[in-house]
Amino acid sequence: MMDGEGSDPFRNDVISGLSRKPKSLPSRWLYDEKGSALFDEITELPEYYPTRTELKILRNKAGEMAEAIGPHAVIIEYGAGSLLKVRILLDALDRPRAFVPVDISASHLHAAAEGLNEDYPELIVDPIASDFMANNLGEALPETPGRNVGFFPGSTVGNLSDAEIKRFLSNVRSDLGDTSCFIIGVDQPKSPDILIPAYDDAQGVTAAFNLNLLTRINRELKGDFDPGAFEHEARWNAEDSRIEMHLRSLKRQRVRVAGEVFDFEQGETIHTENSRKIALDRFEAMAAGCGWTLKRTWKDEDGLFAVLLLEAS
Ligand code: AVI
Repeated sequence: MMDGEGSDPFRNDVISGLSRKPKSLPSRWLYDEKGSALFDEITELPEYYPTRTELKILRNKAGEMAEAIGPHAVIIEYGAGSLLKVRILLDALDRPRAFVPVDISASHLHAAAEGLNEDYPELIVDPIASDFMANNLGEALPETPGRNVGFFPGSTVGNLSDAEIKRFLSNVRSDLGDTSCFIIGVDQPKSPDILIPAYDDAQGVTAAFNLNLLTRINRELKGDFDPGAFEHEARWNAEDSRIEMHLRSLKRQRVRVAGEVFDFEQGETIHTENSRKIALDRFEAMAAGCGWTLKRTWKDEDGLFAVLLLEAS
């Protein structure tokens, strides 16, 4: 608990999400320390194609991206994490000026930024510890001459709703200005035969990632969830072109969290994440409504994943 009853966003989201029918929780709460480590493991799994496919596109096409961006770029990476992918871009760019990683986890961010600065001593590295969805990040950008270039790999955009995507793209557009561009990774629609194993792997790492949310609730909100009484489910929702992660109750049960009581029917689920696979024409239309023009698309040879260059219109 932070200040008073209403001021802890995790508690508020959990209480309201478990009170809802159907029950749901925002996916951002999956990423405590354990959840972030499990997500890193997911990115290495044989079934989880997005990370290695996007890395391959970046490695093969970074030269073309750098040419389209031009010299003296200021790169702003949203939800920055380990900073592995941006190194590929930085290595290809012509004299990049500055790098601004934006991430909510201040300690990881500063450690990763320091490591990067050691390898790129000429580069101004100016981290911003913030939720990438925050308004007015533009005020925190360094006053460095150079073209602002947003960078948002990983298809995290697929974890957002339409309204959140529009808010995010509009914020970035006004923060980065009229001469800016934006490189963004967007996972593509494909067969459930590929998607389901990617989100329900044989080793059970994604299951552990999803179930860890219950352990986090127990620890941080005095919950009494029995994680063994729930199972992970990855579901393909064709109508909305998205993978949904759920936690399914294996029996009828009652759970207490932060002094509140929640009842589950056998088979009832908590919807914990959407991972949308957004077709390019749909994404292009959304981006256009937020002041961005789709200029270039780079895909792998199987069309699994796309990296897009948007330019301020
Ligand atoms: C972070 N995000 C892009 C991942 C995804 O694929 O939607 C999160 C994830 N959830 C389960 N596996 C990976």
